[in-house]
Amino acid sequence: MNMDRLWENLELVVSSCQKCLLHEKRLNTVLDEGSREAKIMFIGEGPGREEDLQGKAFVGPAGKLLDKMLAAIGLTREDVYIANIVKCRPPGNRNPSKGEVEKCLPYLRRQVYLVKPRIIVCLGAVALRYIISEDARITRDRGNWYERKGYSIIPTYHPAALLRDPSKKREAWEDFKAIRERLKSIEKLQQ
Ligand code: URA
Ligand code: SF4
Repeated sequence: MNMDRLWENLELVVSSCQKCLLHEKRLNTVLDEGSREAKIMFIGEGPGREEDLQGKAFVGPAGKLLDKMLAAIGLTREDVYIANIVKCRPPGNRNPSKGEVEKCLPYLRRQVYLVKPRIIVCLGAVALRYIISEDARITRDRGNWYERKGYSIIPTYHPAALLRDPSKKREAWEDFKAIRERLKSIEKLQQ
């Protein structure tokens, strides 16, 4: 089957999903943003207010900061793929519950399978917990590389956390430089 059909299928299933109670208050489901052919994928937590309104990932204040950080390492949205752990906005931007995440994760796994990125960046504690390990801690484990199933995975702070606490930006910048270097070496190997 061609890729467009597979994506259309996923879009359709997610947009009508009612597997968890988050469907009740959402305005729109939020599947992704950016390029579905990217070598690098960013995973956030879940839609905020602006994302819920527009149906696109990372289009609010956190997304604006993410764009700036991408630009600092020479990337635009068209060079990256962006998704979230849950596809519907948790009311008041609370963390999604474990049950909600477990219901929603098969969609993210499908996205990873279809995009097949080389690098996965976990943005913040929620993505880190569900992608790497429940015992992981963002302040302790950010900036470390994890090799899993052929993917190079690195956690860093969520841009919303950087907006709340700008003193974390220095460490986030270190992580983004490491991401830039890893991406460069992957591109070199493919030449
Ligand atoms: N925060 C997230 O984790 N994801 C978004 O899409 C927007 C804000
Ligand atoms: Fe379905 Fe995920 Fe939305 Fe829950 S958050 S209703 S599992 S798409």
